[in-house]
Amino acid sequence: MKFFLDTANTDEIRQAASMGIIDGVTTNPSLVAKENRKFREILIEICDVIDGPVSAEVVSTEFNGMMKEARELAALHPNINVKVPLIREGLKAVKALTSEGIKTNVTLCFSPSQALMAAKAGATFISPFIGRVDDISGVGIEIIRDIRTIYDNYGFETEILAASLRHPLHVMDAALIGADIATIPFKVFDQLINHPLTDIGLKRFLADWEKVKDQVS
Ligand code: G3P
Repeated sequence: MKFFLDTANTDEIRQAASMGIIDGVTTNPSLVAKENRKFREILIEICDVIDGPVSAEVVSTEFNGMMKEARELAALHPNINVKVPLIREGLKAVKALTSEGIKTNVTLCFSPSQALMAAKAGATFISPFIGRVDDISGVGIEIIRDIRTIYDNYGFETEILAASLRHPLHVMDAALIGADIATIPFKVFDQLINHPLTDIGLKRFLADWEKVKDQVS
């Protein structure tokens, strides 16, 4: 399973990247809006730190605008893939971008049928949003389970990028179901490591060692 970081904050990206287990980054307009920096500058900086796919989202909602933005974003760095919303014009753009060799991440996916359409259009990644479905009393993770089955039934190569993951259990559920990628907020990335028994156990090991270290070392 690949881990992407879901943030446009380059400090967070540097911190997580120092562990060596971040495979890519996803951004979206809301995440970029928090940073108060030029979008393109952020993207270039992310690409300098992470040697893997970096998603940059278009904000046009019609085909020609999306294509123009997508080509400009993709030209910034070979690792950039273009995030396109799952609307009719977006799927048209995904088909055209794929034929131009530009990788795409189809975002704002909330149903298996949408994911099937994105795969048919040739999307590189599909981003089902789990937390936002849970927010309205749905069971977000079931969408990923169904997408996995559909893609496996037909051998679609579109990678399932589990998104809108809000806590460690979302990541675990996505892993158990077989999502190809989890895109994770920095806080959740950190939470995945924590366990109180690890802390207690380490404290005890070190205390025991301290008592005998002069005799055994
Ligand atoms: O990658 C999409 C993700 O950032 C959305 O997360 O928490 O805003 O639903 P959230």
